[in-house]
Amino acid sequence: MKKRIGILTSGGDCPGLNAAIRGVARASYALFDAEIIGIRGGYKGLIEGDYQLMSKYQFSNILTMGGTILGTSRTPFKEMRVVGDDNVDKVAAMKENYEKMGLDCLVTLGGNGTHKTANMLSQEGLNVIGLPKTIDNDIFGTDFTFGFHTAVDIATDVIDRIHTTAASHNRVMVVEIMGNKSGWLTLYAGLAGGADAILIPELPYDIEKVAEVIEKRSIENKNFTIIAVAEGAMDVDEARMKRKDREDKRKEEGTNFISVRIANQLREMLNVEARTVIPGHILRGGSPCAYDRVLSTQFGVHAAQLISNGTYGVTVALEGEKIRHNSLAVIAGVPKPVTPSNYIVRTARSMGVSFCDEEE
Ligand code: F6P
Repeated sequence: MKKRIGILTSGGDCPGLNAAIRGVARASYALFDAEIIGIRGGYKGLIEGDYQLMSKYQFSNILTMGGTILGTSRTPFKEMRVVGDDNVDKVAAMKENYEKMGLDCLVTLGGNGTHKTANMLSQEGLNVIGLPKTIDNDIFGTDFTFGFHTAVDIATDVIDRIHTTAASHNRVMVVEIMGNKSGWLTLYAGLAGGADAILIPELPYDIEKVAEVIEKRSIENKNFTIIAVAEGAMDVDEARMKRKDREDKRKEEGTNFISVRIANQLREMLNVEARTVIPGHILRGGSPCAYDRVLSTQFGVHAAQLISNGTYGVTVALEGEKIRHNSLAVIAGVPKPVTPSNYIVRTARSMGVSFCDEEE
């Protein structure tokens, strides 16, 4: 049975995308008479008809490669149904190109935004399968997304390396880790790297409590402090504000970087030497770790099995040790926040790590 598969990667890149693409391709070639079309640059490529028929050879030697061989872009879901100045009806264009390519299904690798568009296309009648990727690990219905563990390893390495220089100089080091809406990455890396305080968007912090962590350590003759903060963390006052007001407040303060603001406040409050470290996109770069290679491959193989069975309108997921799939309609765009009762949060608190939140 011949099946033509379109595949695209959308949203921010992350390690493991190529391993997942390879998984889909190799398992599909093995299971049925597959033809694979690579769509370039995410949904943008699907809208503009930018694609190519791939050869088996193009899926070789990409397991360890970071980024995505297909390229990616961000096409926000909320703009999908908006006809802009170019007069292009994006949804109609995607459906037309799907037909033009003669696809039996479309495999989309991405995060929450990608899944929302995948679900919309599925409801428009296309056969769609999603694969959950993001370093943020914030997709509902899957224990882990691929890309997350690699980013945890990199962020942990950053925190590890900061320890020696922080201790040598008696400094407070504020390490800002990606994660605008969710703090999974900061939580795991903070615990793995031995941070003294972990500040995440889901648990608004009190700057007085951050200062207390430093003072307490100083009383115990610990001359340095490491604070891991997620880029989207907010203090208790900001948490009560509307997003727009919060953004205006940050503009007034003159910095968008939460680490810079916290370091400034701590310098003023405690007269300590506080410095910031912002690894930024380094957290998304380079080769996937072994865990992500395995997970990406498992997700890819499961997607190929779904295609073989003709099961569409779903996204692949990890549940415990099993690879399963969830309905796109159920999980698309549903976030997975860190909850106060999360077992990693509890473990960290038991270790004396402070979240500087209302529970403390
Ligand atoms: O969603 C992954 C992520 O790396 C977030 O952690 C971060 O907030 C965002 O992407 C950054 O996006 P961009 O690469 O478009 O600046």
